[in-house]
Amino acid sequence: MSLVIRGGTVVAADRSYKADVLVEGEKIAAIGEGLKGKSELDASGCFIMPGGIDPHTHLDMPFMGTNSADNYESGTTAALSGGTTLVVDFCIPGRGQPLMDAFHDWEARSKNAIADYSYHMCVTYWSDQVREDMAKVVQAGVTTFKHFMAYKGALMVNDEEMFASFVRCAELGAMPLVHAENGDVVLALQKYYMAKGITGPEGHALSRPPEVEGEAANRAIMLADQAGVPLYIVHTSSIPAHEAIRRARALGKRVYGEPLIQHLVLDESEYYNKDWRHAARRVMSPPFRDKINQDDLWNGLRAGSLQVVATDHCSFTTKQKEMGLGDFTKIPNGTGGLEDRMSVLWTYGVETGRLTPNEFVAVTSTNIARILNLYPRKGAIMPGAEADVVVWDPKANKTISAKTQASVIDYNVFEGFEVKGLPRFTLSRGEVVFRDGKVQAELGRGRFVRREPFPADARALAAFKKYTAAEGVAR
Ligand code: URP
Ligand code: ZN
Ligand code: ZN
Repeated sequence: MSLVIRGGTVVAADRSYKADVLVEGEKIAAIGEGLKGKSELDASGCFIMPGGIDPHTHLDMPFMGTNSADNYESGTTAALSGGTTLVVDFCIPGRGQPLMDAFHDWEARSKNAIADYSYHMCVTYWSDQVREDMAKVVQAGVTTFKHFMAYKGALMVNDEEMFASFVRCAELGAMPLVHAENGDVVLALQKYYMAKGITGPEGHALSRPPEVEGEAANRAIMLADQAGVPLYIVHTSSIPAHEAIRRARALGKRVYGEPLIQHLVLDESEYYNKDWRHAARRVMSPPFRDKINQDDLWNGLRAGSLQVVATDHCSFTTKQKEMGLGDFTKIPNGTGGLEDRMSVLWTYGVETGRLTPNEFVAVTSTNIARILNLYPRKGAIMPGAEADVVVWDPKANKTISAKTQASVIDYNVFEGFEVKGLPRFTLSRGEVVFRDGKVQAELGRGRFVRREPFPADARALAAFKKYTAAEGVAR
């Protein structure tokens, strides 16, 4: 099977140029002029870009007494409709559950995926067994380990556990991720606002101020530095967290920051909406911030101190959100965004002049492919790369609405947004899976994407030796 994507402009992270793209089987075979194939896609007036990679989703995730509503079928359908061809989800072991059991649980959840997927493994408790199991997880192709510094009494790990895990990551050539919020302070503030009678969604925002995030980001960065590992901070939402990342990078530390599309365009006033349901539907952690924090995130993307735009897609229906009526601490935390990440970022980033089209490609695909050691298999338009491609029509527009979305929930946090810039075609490993506004793809065609460990880094190994030599500190 060969296919030519004809008449478009290739937009890569580093340059744009007019060329046709020849796809043979699952890969890009050639880029140039006058290429011939058995079939053709018309890309005139369009940009040919690497398919989006969303490195932060929670599909069918058990959380806060329920499960996120979008599963791998609806979630990956949403992804492909919006031009995202790879999602990276989180395996979450229960306390005491062997990590590879969690891995197999997630394999079962993913069997209906129609887009490719990869996993991060969460470290939710610590033991010698976890330490051993981390090697098996890396062997299974999962080289990133997430740590929750919040959700005390549930997913949160303490500094001792986190540091031990960071040291183990250094040994294995793996990379730790953190949800950076100080869970002890969040708990104290939740109690404080509940006692004051602030029980609605605004209490969620008040109990998770930027300082809570900044403190945790600084702490995680210092711990990672002592363990000699790079660090990836998920859902970076505030100036203090961004500042910590920027400072670390200026000092030569490999620290990455990931703002979410929601934090870039929605602000904290949402939590004060008179309609409880409107506000509760937007409850996620960290919460949306004010405009000053928002501007700072855009600046970070432009300057390169923040590298990736994700969604943290973790959708709950209104009925699920109602579990927190009268007590904001019980509102399931999470919002959707998978289908709309690319078009909202294009509209509010590229159309406004905040980002160039090349920066758009960098932050939606190429940077994370590099960070996850997947480049150029994914995240690139080049011969030999897998043909995960989005043919992007910068003139196409629509009004976002829950009525037309692939996600199964009954609302959309971007409801009513007019977006300009949409996929004309989405290709996943050479197969045209989205055209004429519809996803057409076989259930279960999505493939697990294995990742290799990162090359050993002399500094990391030195730090590892230092801390593993001190028995009891790291184990
Ligand atoms: O509110 C959020 N972000 N829910 C999903 C779980 C997490 O913290 O990433
Ligand atoms: Zn999180
Ligand atoms: Zn998350």
